[in-house]
Amino acid sequence: MIKLKTEKDIEILREGGKHLAFVLNALKKASKPGVTTKELDDLALKLTKDFGDKPAFLNYKPYGADRPFPASACISINNEIVHGIPNESIKILKEGDIVSLDMGLIHKGLFVDSAITVPVGRIDEDAKRLLKVTKQSLDAGIKAIKIGGHIGDIGCAIAKFAYKNKYGIAEGLCGHGVGFAVHEDPYVPNEGMRGEGPEIVPGLVIAIEPMFNEGTGQTKIAKDNWTYLTKDGKRSAHFEHTVAVTKDGVEILT
Ligand code: MF3
Ligand code: CO
Repeated sequence: MIKLKTEKDIEILREGGKHLAFVLNALKKASKPGVTTKELDDLALKLTKDFGDKPAFLNYKPYGADRPFPASACISINNEIVHGIPNESIKILKEGDIVSLDMGLIHKGLFVDSAITVPVGRIDEDAKRLLKVTKQSLDAGIKAIKIGGHIGDIGCAIAKFAYKNKYGIAEGLCGHGVGFAVHEDPYVPNEGMRGEGPEIVPGLVIAIEPMFNEGTGQTKIAKDNWTYLTKDGKRSAHFEHTVAVTKDGVEILT
């Protein structure tokens, strides 16, 4: 069931979204060669607490998971798609990596969710293009939102960028409703058909999150039972915004 948000809820989500954007930007700046993903996670937790907010992913156990997520941020490097677990000994950023920084926070009881993929030092041209196209697809997905349109319009717009650039769309992963919890209805697929899925109405708040792979869209789960990896070992990029639909149009909250 889709739970629509009131103007008042959206006002709170807007504040939370600003906080989250600040945290992600700080993590981006801190993503330098030699830094461990645990250090980034510690920074995410500290900045979130400084705002008086709570990390949304820490100890969150999505349906079907065998144990709760053990950190504040999901940090996923190169061939890791999403849900990477921060670690101090085996996850050290190095020059040329691309790293997905995915974070949710709870502000005044309401949840926002956002992600960016950033370069560590200098990256190769292929990686630059992967980041650029994946980000463009998120922007296009957001632009496709129209009151009276459908959720499928978003995935239709996103998928075009993958097809045109011969990127794989990570299978088994998608965007989602958000606000009263990390994951709510509806599913927001990254590959959709125009006119299909639930109707877009004021009060809808969703997280849109394209994940594009350099190779195929096939995925597998790492031994930690959390991290999604590309099956072919090629790299993946991920960008995510929480957006609200109001009677005035679409607003990016994060
Ligand atoms: N942005 C991630 C997603 O929508 C949030 C994962 S929360 C976790 O899948 F706790 F499951 F990692
Ligand atoms: Co999400």
